[in-house]
Amino acid sequence: MPTTVLVTGGAGFIGSHTCVDLLEHGYEVVVVDNYTNSSPAALDRVQKIAGRPLVGYVADLRDRHALDGVFERHAIDAVIHFAAKKAVGESMEIPIDYYDINLAGTTSLLRSMHAHGVHQIVFSSSCSIYGDAVRVPLTEDDQARPTNPYARSKWICEQILRDACERYPEISAIALRYFNPIGAHPSGQLGEVPTGVPNNVVPYLMQVAVGRLEKLSVFGSDYATPDGTAVRDYIHVLDVVAGHRVAMEHLEDESGMRVFNLGTGVGTSVLQLVSALSVACGKALPYQLADRRPGDVATLVADPQRVERAWGWQATRDLADMCRDAWRFQRLNPAGYLGGI
Ligand code: NAD
Ligand code: WQD
Repeated sequence: MPTTVLVTGGAGFIGSHTCVDLLEHGYEVVVVDNYTNSSPAALDRVQKIAGRPLVGYVADLRDRHALDGVFERHAIDAVIHFAAKKAVGESMEIPIDYYDINLAGTTSLLRSMHAHGVHQIVFSSSCSIYGDAVRVPLTEDDQARPTNPYARSKWICEQILRDACERYPEISAIALRYFNPIGAHPSGQLGEVPTGVPNNVVPYLMQVAVGRLEKLSVFGSDYATPDGTAVRDYIHVLDVVAGHRVAMEHLEDESGMRVFNLGTGVGTSVLQLVSALSVACGKALPYQLADRRPGDVATLVADPQRVERAWGWQATRDLADMCRDAWRFQRLNPAGYLGGI
């Protein structure tokens, strides 16, 4: 079983929640993050919540020299690789940056792992690789048909991992295809704090709720869905985190590449999400219908059975839990982590 875990992108939304969980379960945690979409304050909060220290490095994953230094200083047993850029719309604007950061970050990490005899990796993949779904729910065997550079970068990373596993039988890689992680740590001290104007719908709505943004633009109201707005499978970030720990604990079961969806199997439209968050905040969150966002698809809902059959993992929290926790964090931290700890 791994005892020292390198978490790339550990200051980010999912990474920071994962670090708390790993520390609480007795792992030693080493983080590499360049803070392009996060801040060191997240790691301060992680350590405060968990009551244990971690070791953080400020470095870009593409900096092999810096990465090698981390592997030389710590006896890393396994890697959880979160660090990436992740906004669909932005990836249509700056595709080359997306390929550079997401692909070169991953190959740099794999090279450094290989050079230091580290063979176990859990990789953050994404439901976006399925593209415009022909049918839902989506199983892992459904064809990948990414519709934007972000999704394509994740799909290519999966192929890179597959090829690496093919060549080096000692590697054990698990790609987790998360659907839409939202919510926050129930302490209200850790949540989603993107830099700049949020791209994702929940952090955007949370800033509407505290008056930092005026209203949500609902991207597309003419999709072939019950209310015309796009449907997603929102999943509590702590369920995603639990999925990572379970995956890590099963890395040693077999070598090679395995792929699992992490979703709930429940679809929610943008308008249903606005309503649920409005209930959680106790006020109607303003929105306006707008054009579709380039690169978006109508419906993405997981078939979560493979991971349940393999490891007994399933999501345990519902949309009301996700909204309550997201709002608690935003209410207590209206300016993100700027208020200190
Ligand atoms: P995030 O942006 O909050 O976290 C990513 C972290 O990686 C940030 O702290 C950022 O500063 C860091 N980072 C980015 N580029 C880096 C680089 N080159 N070197 C070092 N650090 C770098 O995102 P998140 O929501 O926590 O997502 C984590 C992972 O999960 C990403 O790979 C994302 O693609 C994937 N994912 C996210 C979602 C989602 O909806 N949040 C869904 C599916 C998959
Ligand atoms: C959700 C819905 C938008 C913003 C992508 C990836 C997924 C995961 C999350 C990483 C969509 C609508 C959004 C807004 C809106 N991440 N929306 N107004 O694009 O579903 O998922 O990011 O992998 O894997 O595919 O997430 O939160 O951006 O959007 O109406 O201001 O909300 O069109 O239907 P998305 P999102």
